[in-house]
Amino acid sequence: MKHLLAPSLLAADFSKMESQIKIINQSEADWLHLDIMDGMFVPNISFGLPVLKSLRPHVKKPFDVHLMIVDPDRYISDFKKAGADLLNVHYEACNHLHRTIQAIKNEGMKAGVTLNPHTPVFLLQEIIAELDLVLLMSVNPGFGGQQFIPNTFKKISDLKNLIAKSGSTALIQVDGGVDTHNAEQLVNAGADVLVAGSAVFNAPDPIEAIRKLKNFSAK
Ligand code: DX5
Ligand code: ZN
Repeated sequence: MKHLLAPSLLAADFSKMESQIKIINQSEADWLHLDIMDGMFVPNISFGLPVLKSLRPHVKKPFDVHLMIVDPDRYISDFKKAGADLLNVHYEACNHLHRTIQAIKNEGMKAGVTLNPHTPVFLLQEIIAELDLVLLMSVNPGFGGQQFIPNTFKKISDLKNLIAKSGSTALIQVDGGVDTHNAEQLVNAGADVLVAGSAVFNAPDPIEAIRKLKNFSAK
């Protein structure tokens, strides 16, 4: 499978939302990545349900929603209503992860689990078969524009092994510090979905940046 690209709206210029949506729609982006932060699970606040709801009719790509919030169970059906296609919850934020994953699937969404940089992949052993996607954070969540953590490569390899062993069909997604310098290496290592915020929206030509992040193939 050719890798997918999910630009992260967090790095967009919120005063020019219409033109930013045009970029997403006209580009080769596969999904739109939406970072929801509550100022509790992460030390930052981003945007929430009303923003997703108003964007939904205008964006032609699936919504890949990354919840960086405490106790995400409270909002699963609200995110479905706001237009989420895939809901990512943090391993570190869920006391009853199995229940949370079932609730996401019961709402008709794809279910993903996100791991912070310090959280080892083997902790997903008993749940991997249930997952549509695992998101490996390659920075500490909360902010865009941070430096990529190289240990992510080892985690991609651990996750590939875990997925192969379990027969799971989960996709491997990488988020944080992804740019044209490491994208190809990440895909070659096994990443199926790349998230890129500043590498897309801070580029002089975001559509061209997306093209570059899409157009190479795994070796
Ligand atoms: C960080 C978010 C990322 C962020 C990535 O907490 O999860 O999705 O937008 O931004 P860049 O690509 O700039 O590192
Ligand atoms: Zn994210």
